[in-house]
Amino acid sequence: MQKHTQLKKAVFPVAGLGTRFLPATKAQPKEMLPVVDKPLIQYAVEEAYSAGIRHMIFVTGRNKRAIEDHFDTAYELENELEVAKKLKLLEVLRSVQPKDLHFSYVRQARSLGLGHAVLCAEHLVGDEPFAVLLADDLMVGPPGGLSVLGQMAEQFNVLGESILAVQEVPAEQTQRYGIVAGETVRDGLIKVSAMVEKPAPEVAPSRMAVAGRYILTPGVFDQLRHQNKGAGGEIQLTDGIAGLMQHQGVYAFQYQGKRYDCGSKEGFLEATVELALNHHEVGGYFRNYLENLQIGWSGKERRVNKLTPVVYQD
Ligand code: G1P
Repeated sequence: MQKHTQLKKAVFPVAGLGTRFLPATKAQPKEMLPVVDKPLIQYAVEEAYSAGIRHMIFVTGRNKRAIEDHFDTAYELENELEVAKKLKLLEVLRSVQPKDLHFSYVRQARSLGLGHAVLCAEHLVGDEPFAVLLADDLMVGPPGGLSVLGQMAEQFNVLGESILAVQEVPAEQTQRYGIVAGETVRDGLIKVSAMVEKPAPEVAPSRMAVAGRYILTPGVFDQLRHQNKGAGGEIQLTDGIAGLMQHQGVYAFQYQGKRYDCGSKEGFLEATVELALNHHEVGGYFRNYLENLQIGWSGKERRVNKLTPVVYQD
């Protein structure tokens, strides 16, 4: 087991195009889409913060400036809120950017894959362990418990080796994920011996899928630097970790909590509904609204209001 240091840095690959949400993402990054009242990326940054991380590194691309602006000070807005004595809102605004938080940005000039995106952050990470968070996966820890990355950081403090968040998925979904297999060390922890990116169900080594949270040792950069293209013709992070596994331990950790796949419309809607139901301000209202919505649940005869949203028409 190698000697480990405390986790200080997190990498957020945010250069992806978000085509699944067009036209909403035509002129704004998909990571800025709000779930209730916070952009997706802020949930991920807050999760990293909760795990003790204070240096956030974004791997961005063209059309992603809104992310930098979001984590920067909005002087004009702050000033207006101050003058108008809207102190609660001012507090909300400032909470995005705690004083001990630092941000760095690096561009991924070409979409060569997730592994390539992580490699773009090498000079900012340096020779220390780091976390990777994919903001598309909105992770919620158990009530009153640690965040998912917080749970992983706790494991990392003991193991000192790379850790991937995993969850079991139905066989027909293995093609969407990195899939791992290995030996169960104890309940919820697997020492990984095989790792494949997006295998078809017939060849998948298991149904244990990697969710978008990783804690990696810097050795992964050596792997990524010398790596060939993998699944989908991209430099895959999964392949880099599979290479790392030949030299160091890699663990898969079944986290407590829930993952919302906000890279898909379905997952995004689920997150919106469930987080709205739990929201301190609108939760009560929204629960009542849903209970009165006529959508035919609980076996009773109910009907949905047929809506016709406005679209361009000749
Ligand atoms: C990426 C990773 C995959 C992982 C998934 C989790 O895939 O390549 O290994 O299981 O994130 O969300 P993507 O969703 O970017 O295609």
